[in-house]
Amino acid sequence: MIIGVPKERREPEARVAASPETVGRLVALGQQVWIERGAGAGSLWSDAEYQQKGATLVEAEEIWERADIVLKVQRPTDAEMPLLRHGQVLVGMLDPYPNRAQVAAYAERGVTAFALELLPRTTRAQAMDVLSSQANLAGFRAMLEAMTAYRRVVPMMMTAAGTVTPAKVFVIGAGVAGLQAIATARRMGAVVSATDVRPAAKQEIESLGARFVGYIPEDAATAGGYARPLTAEELERQRQVLADHIRSQDIVVTTAQVPGRPAPRIVTAGMVRSMKPGAVILDMAVESGGNVEGSRPGETVEMDGVTILGPRNLPSRVAPTASQLYAKNLLNFLSLLVPEGANEVHIDTNDELVAATLLTRGGSIVHPNFQS
Ligand SMILES: NC(=O)c1ccc[n+]([C@@H]2O[C@H](COP(=O)([O-])OP(=O)(O)OC[C@H]3O[C@@H](n4cnc5c(N)ncnc54)[C@H](O)[C@@H]3O)[C@@H](O)[C@H]2O)c1
Repeated sequence: MIIGVPKERREPEARVAASPETVGRLVALGQQVWIERGAGAGSLWSDAEYQQKGATLVEAEEIWERADIVLKVQRPTDAEMPLLRHGQVLVGMLDPYPNRAQVAAYAERGVTAFALELLPRTTRAQAMDVLSSQANLAGFRAMLEAMTAYRRVVPMMMTAAGTVTPAKVFVIGAGVAGLQAIATARRMGAVVSATDVRPAAKQEIESLGARFVGYIPEDAATAGGYARPLTAEELERQRQVLADHIRSQDIVVTTAQVPGRPAPRIVTAGMVRSMKPGAVILDMAVESGGNVEGSRPGETVEMDGVTILGPRNLPSRVAPTASQLYAKNLLNFLSLLVPEGANEVHIDTNDELVAATLLTRGGSIVHPNFQS
């Protein structure tokens, strides 16, 4: 079988869906791996490194024409969609919820499409969990970017010229990204507090040495471990509880997300304006609607002396590491579809991980969440 890896074409994107290591593993399992020339450059892997591991270097068109399986980081662009072939297997972070028309287009083209964001957060899926591998790195990078934009120093310093007080950092949303942001801020010597709506998150925040601040509504965690959307009244109550705390913070990093929904709007313009000049807010949810009033994707906004950062695609800013982990996630996922030495793709819909991620097959949308 031919497994193809085109260069990513959505901007900004420096990641790639295969590493020399994963290519070597797939070749050892008896598969052919075709890599587009230059696909690894953004992740600091040369064509020669892929070739040494047994990859064939090709142009993108050859991959779309001939590959049985195409591995992607992000969903195909409008220019790539017409290249997808009937029967081709597409695997990547296809971001299906806001892109339902594209899910229908995979079905129309007869593509077998897998969206890896839909993997359940179970122990068995952990080694394939792209959301975790990428959010963890994004949380690290977000905290560094917020601290870089902050024009004072972060740790306490006792010097002969005087004592510098440590920065106060508040993290909103303590999932994978938020917990890494908390850990990073602690390592830098900040005084760290955090909030979430899931009861389990409170203990996780405290186990990292941060203080929990906030309000936990009834039954805010779903069976899948995610937060449910809050009602308008609950969100208002949350804002009231957080407003006083945010006023005194130097750096706020927001990561709150509800799968399949726009991100909850937690920080209002009034809260932003209540902060001291020089304070920094980084909105990690900016691309899914934003947790912060006034944040804009890919832009830095100044509001009464407070800087609001809305970086797009943070994992791409640590692309060599992000690609290393993402490629490994994909390799582990492929073990479900491609048993050793197989010369065709096996799709076992009785496997819960396959069923959870399979969007389209045989010309139809098969995932129940996308059928209407
Ligand atoms: N295999 C595993 O065991 C495994 C691996 C990774 C994650 N998880 C779990 O999956 C779940 C989701 O993690 P994620 O990082 O993908 O989350 P996510 O990206 O969906 O959301 C980020 C955080 O925002 C929080 N949030 C949502 N609405 C909020 C609001 N109004 N105010 C404050 N916070 C709000 C969520 O509770 C979550 O902690 C967590 O329970 C996590 O522990 C399990």
